[in-house]
Amino acid sequence: MKRLLPMAFAAAGTVFLQGCAGWQSALDPKGPAASELAWLIWFFAGLCAVVWVLVMIALAAPLMMRARAQAQPLAVDAGADDRKLRVVMIAVGLTTAILVGLTLLSFFADRTLAAIGSDAVLTVRVTGHQWWWEVRYEDATPSRILTTANEIHIPSGEPVRLLLTSNDVIHSFWIPSLAGKLDLIPGHMNVLDIKADKPGVYRGQCAEFCGAQHANMGTFIIAEPRAKFDAWWNDQLQPAAAPTADEAKAGEELFLRRPCVMCHRIGGTPAGGTVAPDLTHIASRQTLAAGTLTMSRGNLAAWIADPQGIKPGSNMPVVEFSGDELNAVVAYLEGLK
Ligand code: CUA
Repeated sequence: MKRLLPMAFAAAGTVFLQGCAGWQSALDPKGPAASELAWLIWFFAGLCAVVWVLVMIALAAPLMMRARAQAQPLAVDAGADDRKLRVVMIAVGLTTAILVGLTLLSFFADRTLAAIGSDAVLTVRVTGHQWWWEVRYEDATPSRILTTANEIHIPSGEPVRLLLTSNDVIHSFWIPSLAGKLDLIPGHMNVLDIKADKPGVYRGQCAEFCGAQHANMGTFIIAEPRAKFDAWWNDQLQPAAAPTADEAKAGEELFLRRPCVMCHRIGGTPAGGTVAPDLTHIASRQTLAAGTLTMSRGNLAAWIADPQGIKPGSNMPVVEFSGDELNAVVAYLEGLK
């Protein structure tokens, strides 16, 4: 019975809100936290709709009764005041009960959310930057600590604890299909526990205006079965693949001689910058520039040649390359699986 009302509204809502389904929707939950929140959304919306209808009826009824009273101006209704007082008292009582009930529901939902991460199997530190996400996997063994960017792999069906902070301004981390949103605040650590019920890719978006490229600050949770996740982590810990083809070799040399190394790190090479995304396995990611472009040879070249055209205001500068040089650098980066 408790779930009947929200289920009815959810069913009606699904018909009208087909556009809200998919890999980035709070109304299409794919994990326990998002399910709890979606249930709350539907219950609140459903109950408020019922209250709205009742208020409209309460408004219309006296108007109709007044019209009838005017037809018989001499009729006296002695009990009218008592009845009206009773209706007002009942309405006040109902309003109080609804407010207290909804507050309790929120409270218990919060407790459910807090319990999700109590047995978290993995801790990932997510740091917001203008305009990308630094992702660091914590581990008791220092050699297993891993830093990557923008895409967060997690084991499906297992709770994961995210530690959220920021390097510059306030950002907000929001993967609608998996959990509610939480701010990333400079100098402060917020904790968000997530769990994906099934393997899949869930898109997230910075949800706090943080500057010119706020809209191009996407992120992805990639939930995989445990074995696949472990294999991914082990792969990512490896140093970058050494180039074999001549063009890629030339590309590596160019990369290391140009200013790229001031900002980017490529494991196994002297490039050790940490102010921009780690590129050790850049080609294993699905997107470039925090979800702005899909990963492809053409987009890699476009991004290096014209970063300010693609993402105006970002900190990626134009590094002058000739056509051949650009091809070589792209060939090298493309090999960093
Ligand atoms: Cu980061 Cu908006």
